[in-house]
Amino acid sequence: MFSSPFPEFISFFCGNMSSPPVFPLLPEEEIFLKTIGSSKRQAEFILGRRCVHQALSKFKLESAPVLRNPETREPCWPESVRGSITHSGKIAAAAVGWTKDISGIGIDLESFSREIDFNISRHVCVETELIRLKSLPAEQAKRDLRIIFSAKESIFKCLFPISQTYLYFKDAKITINEDNAEFSFVLSKACSGITEVGFQHSGKFSIKDNMLLTSIFI
Ligand SMILES: CC(C)(COP(=O)(O)OP(=O)(O)OC[C@H]1O[C@@H](n2cnc3c(N)ncnc32)[C@H](O)[C@@H]1OP(=O)(O)O)[C@@H](O)C(=O)NCCC(=O)NCCS
Repeated sequence: MFSSPFPEFISFFCGNMSSPPVFPLLPEEEIFLKTIGSSKRQAEFILGRRCVHQALSKFKLESAPVLRNPETREPCWPESVRGSITHSGKIAAAAVGWTKDISGIGIDLESFSREIDFNISRHVCVETELIRLKSLPAEQAKRDLRIIFSAKESIFKCLFPISQTYLYFKDAKITINEDNAEFSFVLSKACSGITEVGFQHSGKFSIKDNMLLTSIFI
């Protein structure tokens, strides 16, 4: 299980299916759960919401239900906080921060046990990312492709809720910095009211128990 990649003022919780549930689903979430078709998605939703309430409890907001926007699928947080949720198999995580401290936040989990098809790099990567990946030994190229993919999903989760701008994978260029387990990125598209073309920022990645966690906040 991952420890927090964030500073103290952000609350982060990572849990798995076998950890004892501290917070049950709230009644509004129970109702929403019944609208989810597959049992796999239901299990993900339950574990994700447990992590959400554990993370929110640091701010005494654990009794606020966190539903999902039916059109955009983004989570609907209490007004005073921003947050992000991720699931992968039997693991999930949630991160939240007060709006006075952060503008946006994104986290993403990926499992290395799920094989990644290197051909997706054509859809995920911009030219300079592709050139670098192709210069690497095959296994490292696959690992770095996964970091790039996950970093871009974290960027999307961070920026979409505050801009309603749909970023595509090729709208961000990622550079991995192994020395400090960070990635930097530059955007080639503006996010409405938030970032200009050329916006640069960085995030973190961490690898543990065959899982990858990427994270950013702005
Ligand atoms: C939305 C997306 C990022 C989710 O990632 P995923 O790896 O499929 O799934 P995860 O389990 O990690 O994350 C799921 C959570 O993402 C969150 N999410 C979904 N849509 C979201 C949105 N529009 N904005 C913010 N968060 C969103 C939800 O909290 C969801 O969990 P929940 O349904 O239990 O509430 C992904 O499905 C997607 O659409 N990606 C394409 C867009 C993209 O990444 N562009 C790259 C830009 S550089």
